[in-house]
Amino acid sequence: MLAIIGGTGLTQLDNLKITKRLIVRTPYGEPSQPLIFGEIADREVIFLARHGRGHTIPPHEVNYRANISALHLHGVTEIAAVATVGGISADLSAGKLVIPHQIIDYTYARKSTFHDGIGQPVKHIDFTEPYCPNLRAKWKRAAEAISEKVIDYGVYAATQGPRLETAAEIIRLERDGATVVGMTGMPEAALARELGISYAAICPVANYAAGKGDNLHAIHYEEIIANLNLTMERVRNIIAELVKQNGFNPDVVPVNTQCG
Ligand code: HPA
Repeated sequence: MLAIIGGTGLTQLDNLKITKRLIVRTPYGEPSQPLIFGEIADREVIFLARHGRGHTIPPHEVNYRANISALHLHGVTEIAAVATVGGISADLSAGKLVIPHQIIDYTYARKSTFHDGIGQPVKHIDFTEPYCPNLRAKWKRAAEAISEKVIDYGVYAATQGPRLETAAEIIRLERDGATVVGMTGMPEAALARELGISYAAICPVANYAAGKGDNLHAIHYEEIIANLNLTMERVRNIIAELVKQNGFNPDVVPVNTQCG
């Protein structure tokens, strides 16, 4: 079963025919909102808004473990995530869509593993390729099927937030090799991997990162929201296509265990 996790600017899927809303309790607490079960083009999908229905949960307070655990408990094997970012590379202006292939994690003090219970054996997951290549290919194929251009590589810097970065921090991230910056990519991706769930994200660029492009001296939050309003309709259409294609396209290699 496929799940969509929506981020800033995507707290609901207008084109989802909702069949059920389910409050789920997990050993890690409650997810950000009840799981929304529904259908797009007769294909089942679960939707979850990472920041809650009213967008009230900041990135560092999202209960990522409860979110991923709840989806896992309900049979989710693939998570297609939407995560808004700032563009670090000069070509990544607002409105661009990036499917990153790598992550650098700068977050701290987040509960970032399921393997830290008392008496639990230590476990180290492989995370060489943090995003599932097959699911990244599905995102790309879905976008291209509706003539949306995507940049199908990128290094996602996950920052702690909730504040935006300083210009010097962005220069540092750039030096590290990051091309986009966001606050929610981790530990979400790693937790999905721990539970064997394939995970890949599409990242709508909402603004140039601090000190970049036209944001030399400041980033205005209203600018982020205005840009996202313009972009999310396109993302919704890509999601609809992704759900529609999922499981039907013989060219798409079935998800292999390496993704999970
Ligand atoms: N930095 C971090 N997260 C973001 C940004 C940004 O510039 N824009 C949207 N999410």
